Amino acid sequence: MSQSTISEVGKHEGQTVTIKGWLYNLRESGKLLFPIFRDGTGTIQGVVPKSAVAPEVFEAVKGLTQESSVIVEGKVRADKRAPGGYELDVSNVEVLQRVSEADPFPISLKEHGVDFLMEHRHLWLRTPRQAAILRVRAEIIKAVRNYFDDNGFTLTDPPILTPAACEGTSTLFPVDYFEEQAYLTQSGQLYIEATAMALGKVYSFGPTFRAEKSKTRRHLTEFWMVEPELAYATLDDLMDLGENLIAFVVTRCLENRRADFATIGRDLTQLEKVKTRFPRISYDEAVQRLQDGHAKGAIETKFEWGGDFGSPDETYLSSQFDRPVMVHRYPAQVKAFYMEPDPQRPELALCVDVLAPEGYGEIIGGSQRMASYDLLVQRIHEHNLPEEAFKWYLDLRKYGSVPHGGFGMGIERVVAWICGLEHVRETIPFPRMLHRLYP
Ligand code: 4AD
Ligand code: MG
Repeated sequence: MSQSTISEVGKHEGQTVTIKGWLYNLRESGKLLFPIFRDGTGTIQGVVPKSAVAPEVFEAVKGLTQESSVIVEGKVRADKRAPGGYELDVSNVEVLQRVSEADPFPISLKEHGVDFLMEHRHLWLRTPRQAAILRVRAEIIKAVRNYFDDNGFTLTDPPILTPAACEGTSTLFPVDYFEEQAYLTQSGQLYIEATAMALGKVYSFGPTFRAEKSKTRRHLTEFWMVEPELAYATLDDLMDLGENLIAFVVTRCLENRRADFATIGRDLTQLEKVKTRFPRISYDEAVQRLQDGHAKGAIETKFEWGGDFGSPDETYLSSQFDRPVMVHRYPAQVKAFYMEPDPQRPELALCVDVLAPEGYGEIIGGSQRMASYDLLVQRIHEHNLPEEAFKWYLDLRKYGSVPHGGFGMGIERVVAWICGLEHVRETIPFPRMLHRLYP
């Protein structure tokens, strides 16, 4: 007898297999029991007729509690009505642990409130939809890594503990580093600028931290960012890279995660439109679109040139396109200190934000980096940053400075968009948000 996972049972049609898992649900109708088992790869319904199994097997399944751990033996039978295409004619069930009736699994199949589910996130992860989201997340991460590994990028890991800010001082998490003040990294960018000068094309992929004090459906305090950085790159190169990366990731998910999308209930017609090339509009044009939207009554407040887009602005802009839209050349004043000014209009930064369709907002933020030593010193002062902490970063402009740039893509935002989720909290096993540090 062979062991099988539920996702692979099709390979054993007509044979008896062993499945190691848990009881997900149980329907009983007199002398017939219909347990649904799950094993992490999927769910399958078993059939246990009293007349066909040993009495102790029937008794073991009868009244069995949700999430009891079981090793099941049964014959695989194709069934067109079954969600996975197969059912199991159960011949034996070994119960490893029977969950007590007095203390049942807290997450029943009925609806629960979000707070309750978040408090039980460690158990909520067992439900098929949450497991499917995590499989899509893993697929996205694998695709991202494959894309960079196969296109000449070298993975270089920046530090998590840092002495200075990268993305503004208002969202820093302080850490007591012996006698010194340190912070959790907001982005690996500054460090991979150094590795890019050493290796040419690099990327980093790791956890990043922002002490975001706002509660939104797009913000976590701890999230995973993938960041490519390229020596001798222009803004156009970065936009080409961003659209190719996103199109590659979406294609991979559509190829490999159909069953998970079905479990999640994701309508794939929108995702299937995500092909290169993506529309590219300037900040000026985006502002014009927002003002037109206001005139038509689609947006409440009139957007004024010079400000940064809020979530409703991004939602409005991205909902106008059927694929991600790239907005480039924002006013330097709303962006980070390290961005290269546009030589044609120095009040603008050579930067790009990629807004996902279906109203998901920014998934990528990036720019060309300031190549001039003197201008960078000036910006560091204008942003009230301690020059001393950036001495090493300034060195990169002293020894063979070149035009270069990169971007950061937030994995949780991408998962939320690709899975069609309402909130980023379901995109990572244990989300960290304002007021959420448990479990
Ligand atoms: O636009 P951001 O702040 O850019 C940077 O950090 C650059 N240093 C990256 C670079 O150029 N190498 O962040 C990049 C992306 C955003 O587009 C978004 O997808 C994600 O990171 N992100 C967040 N995701 C979840 N929660 C948050 N609080 C996020 N802040 C940014
Ligand atoms: Mg940004």
